[in-house]
Amino acid sequence: MKVIVTDNYEQLSARAAEIIEDQVNMNSGSVIGLATGGTPLGTYKHLIKGFQERSVDYSKVTTFNLDEYVGLEEDHPQSYHQFMEQNLFNHVNINHTRTYIPNGNAESLEEECLLYEQLIEEIGPPDLQLLGIGENGHIGFNEPGSSFQGFTHIEQLDESTREANARFFNSKEEVPLEAITMGIGSILKSKAILLLASGEHKAKAISQLLKGETDEQFPASALLDHPNVTLVVDRAAYQLVE
Ligand code: F6R
Repeated sequence: MKVIVTDNYEQLSARAAEIIEDQVNMNSGSVIGLATGGTPLGTYKHLIKGFQERSVDYSKVTTFNLDEYVGLEEDHPQSYHQFMEQNLFNHVNINHTRTYIPNGNAESLEEECLLYEQLIEEIGPPDLQLLGIGENGHIGFNEPGSSFQGFTHIEQLDESTREANARFFNSKEEVPLEAITMGIGSILKSKAILLLASGEHKAKAISQLLKGETDEQFPASALLDHPNVTLVVDRAAYQLVE
């Protein structure tokens, strides 16, 4: 795993955006895996700036998002569909028909999972997958104990994850109980992975990851076996690494 330590969140965001832009500039038809949550927001701001100021071209790019809550309408303000529209897709020249996000309201969620995995197989896998990390080590919504071979599936969210995400809702009770998520096996198909971690609250997870021990109780450790992972981490999140 290549590790890049930055002074702060702003530098982390700029560096992450640069890595994504390099991929898109190298191959205009790139498939990019995207994440939601607080961490990539700065990265998306930089990508929008790059589009406006340097004309980075997204017209042929395809995207796959990691996950979506089960039971939220696509236009629910906290759905990941809305998150992506508001924070990236509406501000760059991406073709909306090439942006894939699991449908958490599908009539058959099981079929939706199979279909999503099939799409990743047919169109992907991502050339570059962007990831955040949960305080409990989750990637996508693969909570501790998830199989490292798992594909897209429905996951029960950990209480700690619902608590962490309650900041985006009016209360923790409003945070859905389940999500559709790419599995760890799906994520590992990506040709390259860009993992971001920022802030003191991620320091324990990053020090655990960089101990280098693979453990299904710590989902991010699956990345240790992937040949092309770059971790961009700010000093606050890196502070417990010995
Ligand atoms: C988001 C996702 C999650 C987040 C993780 C960190 O699509 O899959 O794994 O990356 O929960 O969230 P933040 O960035 O809000 O700390």
